[in-house]
Parts: sequence; C-alpha cells; structure tokens
Amino acid sequence: MLILGIESTCDETAAAVVRDGEEILSNVVTSQIDLHQPFGGVVPEVASRRHLELIAPVIREALSEALLTIDQIDLIAVAMGPGLMGALLVGLNAAKGLSIGTGKPYIGINHVEAHLYAATMNQPVQFPALGIVLSGGHTALLRIHAVGQYELISTTVDDAIGEAFDKVASILDLPYPGGPHIEELAKTGDPHAYPFRAGRVKTKPLHFSFSGLKTSVLYAVKGQGNTRKDPTLLSDQQKADVAASFQEAAFRDIVKKAKLAAGDCRSVILGGGVVINQRLRAMLDLDLPIFWPPPALTLDNAAMIAGLAYHRLPLDGPSPLDLKPQPRIPLDR
Ligand code: KG4
Ligand code: ZN
Repeated sequence: MLILGIESTCDETAAAVVRDGEEILSNVVTSQIDLHQPFGGVVPEVASRRHLELIAPVIREALSEALLTIDQIDLIAVAMGPGLMGALLVGLNAAKGLSIGTGKPYIGINHVEAHLYAATMNQPVQFPALGIVLSGGHTALLRIHAVGQYELISTTVDDAIGEAFDKVASILDLPYPGGPHIEELAKTGDPHAYPFRAGRVKTKPLHFSFSGLKTSVLYAVKGQGNTRKDPTLLSDQQKADVAASFQEAAFRDIVKKAKLAAGDCRSVILGGGVVINQRLRAMLDLDLPIFWPPPALTLDNAAMIAGLAYHRLPLDGPSPLDLKPQPRIPLDR
C-alpha cells in the first residue's frame, strides 16, 4: 500500500511517501525557522500563510522523489492534530482536496502518536512498552500495549519540555528554537554549577513540572530582583554553566520518572523533537531495549504520518470529509 503523508501542525511543511508503513520512498521537510526567528517563537498566522504557499509544491516534490504520480497512491494521510488551528487547516484541506479530486480515501492521524511510531518503523518492538514523548508541545509517559493502544501514565502540569528549552534559550538570548543551542552550549558548561531542580507535583509523583525550573534559570541569569537585566552581562562560561545545569536537571527528572514508570514494560520507545538530544541519549540508562527514532524521523516530518496511517486504517477506516482539525487530542483517545 502506497501512502502519501502530509504534515503541517506547527512550523514545518512536510510530505512523504511510505510503502506498507515501513519503506520510505520520499521524505520532504521544509522548515520555517528563519521566518519565525525574529519573533523568538512561532507566529501562528505567519505559519499558516507559509504552509499555504508550500503545501502544493512540497506534495509534488514528495511524489516526484518517490517517482510516483498521485494516481498510484492508495491512501492520503494527514496530521489532524494536535497543533496550531490555522496550520492544521492547511494540511487537512489539502488532504481533503486531493481525496475529492482523485477519489482516493484519506485518513486523519494524531501527530504525537506518529512521533512515537517513528522509532518503531522497521523495528521488532516488544510490548508492553514505555512510551516517552518529549516535544515542543508535549511531555508524556505512556504504557503502549500495541500500535494504537495507549494508556497515559503522566504528563506535564505546566510547560512542555521543548517549550522549557525554548524559554531558557530566550532568557540566555539564544535563537529560536532553543533546544539545539542549549545542547551545544551545555557541552562546555558545568552541569553542577547551579543547583537547579525540576518541579515535583504533589500527590502525582510521575507528573512533570518545568515552569519552576525555568524561573530558577531566570533568577540565576537576571538576579532575584531583576538586578542583572541583560544576559549579555554573563560571561560565556556562566552562560554555558546555566545551559548545562538546566539541561541536566530537566533530563535527570525525566530519566528518574521514566525508571519509576517502566514497571513490567519490555521496551522503551521515544518520540518528539527533544529526543534528538545526545545528552539525553547518554543519560537514559534503562535496562531495557530502547528505541530512538532515526534523525530524519525525529523532528516534525510526514513519513511518520504516512507510516502510522498504514496501521490506523484497519482500526479506524478512512476519515469522513467533515473531519475537523483538532488542536488538542488526548494521546489515549
Ligand atoms: O517534535 P518537534 O519537532 O515539534 C513538536 O511537535 O513540538 O519538537 C520541537 C521541539 C522544540 O521545542 C525544540 O527546541 C526541541 O524540540 N529540540 C531540542 C533539540 N532539538 C530540538 N531540545 C533539546 N535538544 C535538542 N537538540
Ligand atoms: Zn512534533
């Protein structure tokens, strides 16, 4: 089965063709980072407009790289959420338009579920598995019984982990998105220079809280009474120490909670942009087979959407034409 995937949930416009959920024939991703960088974050309206310009050329490129025409495609798969409403509308309407125009079925796919699927593509995974989602919009631990069967264990009560990286980067005057810049800077920093800690959620020991950690970083950089207003007043070494101490505190918390949640799980599956971080890979020392997504499938992409659709089609059937974008969908729907 040849599936065309479409992804436009945030600031990447992407299309891909995947055969039988496993064989990637093309995987085209265009990032809008340069467009949003001056604003220090994604501007939803700007993102929607750029998706609108790019969606048709990106789909054409994905088909042409796969040496296929739309007539040879069996199913169109599109990320229907979670994400930015305007951005989702562009991808979903492109999929509906293609479906109407060609008479092919289409299916709406959960973007976060697809992040987790990315690590298991072509891999023999032992279930139940512990799922760890670490992205710009999500932080969650799940028990995965099979592809399509999820039980939410815990989530964040405030900021998502990627969001915390982006906010700390902005405090340190680093460009958006902050994750890769923090990781780079942290390499020359002392992870024990500042006594940062992630938050504890009363009565919910496996839940996450990163907003207090972010505030500790803010105070360390700007002074308790906002006395040192400008991060450029920090030396390069101090900045690196802040980045390293923050990163270490955030990942220490995630690793600790993952270990507590692992229970009788037989493997661990990771997904989301943050899991590209090499320090996290070094720190996650669980005594189980660990499935990391390959680099091309870690940040937002459409191959994971097309791949997962192969497994969701028998469970859900094709989507109706009145399907609405879903800016928030629970993982364990
Ligand atoms: O999964 P993703 O591409 O988009 C969402 O679905 O949210 O994740 C983007 C997030 C951003 O917050 C970005 O700062 C973070 O992933 N990120 C990283 C790294 N590369 C990207 N965080 C930590 N270390 C990195 N190397
Ligand atoms: Zn994502």
